[in-house]
Amino acid sequence: MSEVSPDPATVVDRAAAERPIPKPGILDIHAYVPGKAKVEGVAEPVKLSANENPLGSSPKAREAYAEAARQLHVYPDPRANIVRAAIAERFRLEPERLVFGCGSDEVFQLLNQVFLEPGDNMVQGEFGFAAFGIGAKAAGGEVKLAKEPGYRIDVDELLATVDERTRLVFLANPGNPTGTWIPFSEVRRLHEALPASVVLVLDGAYGEFALDPQFSDGLELARTSSNIVVTHTFSKLHGLAGLRVGWGYAPVEIAAAVERIRLPFNVSVPAQVAAVAALGDEDFQRASIALVEQWRPWLTQQLGGAGLEVVGPSATNFLLVGFPTRPGKTAAEAEAFLASRGLLVRGVGLYGLPNHLRVTIGLEAHNRALAEALVDFMRAP
Ligand SMILES: Cc1ncc(COP(=O)(O)O)c(C=O)c1O
Repeated sequence: MSEVSPDPATVVDRAAAERPIPKPGILDIHAYVPGKAKVEGVAEPVKLSANENPLGSSPKAREAYAEAARQLHVYPDPRANIVRAAIAERFRLEPERLVFGCGSDEVFQLLNQVFLEPGDNMVQGEFGFAAFGIGAKAAGGEVKLAKEPGYRIDVDELLATVDERTRLVFLANPGNPTGTWIPFSEVRRLHEALPASVVLVLDGAYGEFALDPQFSDGLELARTSSNIVVTHTFSKLHGLAGLRVGWGYAPVEIAAAVERIRLPFNVSVPAQVAAVAALGDEDFQRASIALVEQWRPWLTQQLGGAGLEVVGPSATNFLLVGFPTRPGKTAAEAEAFLASRGLLVRGVGLYGLPNHLRVTIGLEAHNRALAEALVDFMRAP
């Protein structure tokens, strides 16, 4: 059994302290580091650091958002019923099994809060998305990392990491920052081998960009399961990252538990109406997927041709790119070089990947500028 014993050096008599002291573990959490949005000396940099949608968002969503300006004085519907109904209809899901959050990040946070108490743990891949772990630690839980050989989730490694205090397994499929994915047969094998008391969270934030027929976001499996939660976001495909809307499809008991602790008005009025409009704009969704489909292989090939290691194949709207470790060609130097050309990408050292950068697939001009810059960077003496 894994016991969480506090480091004696950090044990503080909180009652006797002369100032408020956060509860144990809080100050050990590394705050989430967002993708860079600015660089000195460049008025309008190209932001390829946060996997946002380079097409912007659906015109219909923007219209709905603008219209919502007339309703800013009213609280939003706490149950987000218009979004609930739209998602239930689109994916043929039971409305009462849906939960909504200020981004899917909040859904992860709520699940961690519902299931973890000190001494419990959650399991994720070693390169798993940072927001999973922040919420787990904030809830007093431990984060256990399973090896990802070849930058890919390995079901046997996940299962070997699970112990009797594991309450949740988080699996982003496809993963961020790796961009890799595992087929549905592997997800099913993981689910079958997990104890029924462990919640399997399948984060499909990038699922819409995974086009291989062997991929599934797991909604079908979740329908008949008592321990799977599938999450999705409006931030990527729909280009509504700035509005913060995410959702989860959970067994009814889990949805009801989340409802008890969720802040009542967590999805704002403009976010709700824009999300509904975005969901209805299939042209925009198709265009977003087509853009990634067109440029993902091109960028992969160009960067590979420049002598870089592209992790993959990527099933997302970004690539994870490996750099040499020799001075002059490192990931950190490449990041600075790209920034000097106004191209902002994501360093992923905090994910234990100091020799990699994550680059969002952009518009044609962005992709060409990125490829050209990296060819120049690698060619320079
Ligand atoms: C794997 C993964 N899951 C979830 C999210 C969070 O999305 P949201 O904007 O809905 O909080 C992201 C955002 O980058 C992500 O990379």
